[in-house]
Amino acid sequence: MRVAIVTGGARGIGYGIAQALAKEGYSLAILGRSSHTDVKERIAQLPAAAQPHLYFQGDLANAQHRTAFCRRIMDTFGQIDVLVNNAGVAPKVRMDLLETTEESFDFVMDINLKGTFFLTQQVANLMIQQNRPGKIINISSLSAYAASTNRPEYCLSKAGISMVTKLFALRLADHGINVYEVRPGIINTEMTAPAKTKYDALIAEGLTPIRRWGTPQDVANTVSALCSGKFSFSTGEVINVDGGFHLREL
Ligand SMILES: NC(=O)c1ccc[n+]([C@@H]2O[C@H](COP(=O)([O-])OP(=O)(O)OC[C@H]3O[C@@H](n4cnc5c(N)ncnc54)[C@H](O)[C@@H]3O)[C@@H](O)[C@H]2O)c1
Repeated sequence: MRVAIVTGGARGIGYGIAQALAKEGYSLAILGRSSHTDVKERIAQLPAAAQPHLYFQGDLANAQHRTAFCRRIMDTFGQIDVLVNNAGVAPKVRMDLLETTEESFDFVMDINLKGTFFLTQQVANLMIQQNRPGKIINISSLSAYAASTNRPEYCLSKAGISMVTKLFALRLADHGINVYEVRPGIINTEMTAPAKTKYDALIAEGLTPIRRWGTPQDVANTVSALCSGKFSFSTGEVINVDGGFHLREL
């Protein structure tokens, strides 16, 4: 049996990752904000694994929820092989950085950066205790390096995730735990739905050298490759899944 945690794994990119890992036989522990009733059909549609998948309703930003989630995972499965830190939010309202509010800053940072950091800390300690090799994969964004002045809190949170990757990669190398960052570009999910028309036009004009929207499956395939063990001598690596957006041209 192998067990993978996927935060935000009940929809969007996270659901794509959950589908890919379940297909490979992982039993999943999924954290999400939606009620069990709202997601149970989607969870039931995931390929079955050695042990039934676990869905836990909770808030990544809440320390008690994180602890309760980890406890449930250990009670249910007794082990963790993979942690995919995927859950994240955009600001509720995009605002110029001269006007960004502390409330929006805290909302985004508490989930995307603080919640991810402390869940990783907790899971890393459990992985160390169980003394088995593990993998941690952080889903950041092109916003880790591309500055958008209308959502500074999101960019800051994702830039922070790049450092979370480096820190844990260094600290966990001696424990056989490899840590990677996956940087999606523009991916077709509910998060990007409000900007669909804008991105349709930009992509058609050549914003991404590969002129199409990314899909959750594009990101999931990368996560699955990183989990395969074929990158065992690499840690702290960043993989762009962005249709070439990061390339500069002269
Ligand atoms: N869609 C894109 O173009 C894109 C691009 C780059 C990076 N990303 C990143 O990929 C990840 C997934 O994005 P998506 O497009 O699938 O978004 P989405 O909004 O469709 O899904 C986000 C998931 O995270 C969960 N989540 C959000 N806040 C949570 C909280 N406080 N506690 C627990 N779960 C929480 C939600 O329940 C949901 O399942 C995010 O981290 C996002 O920043 C997305």
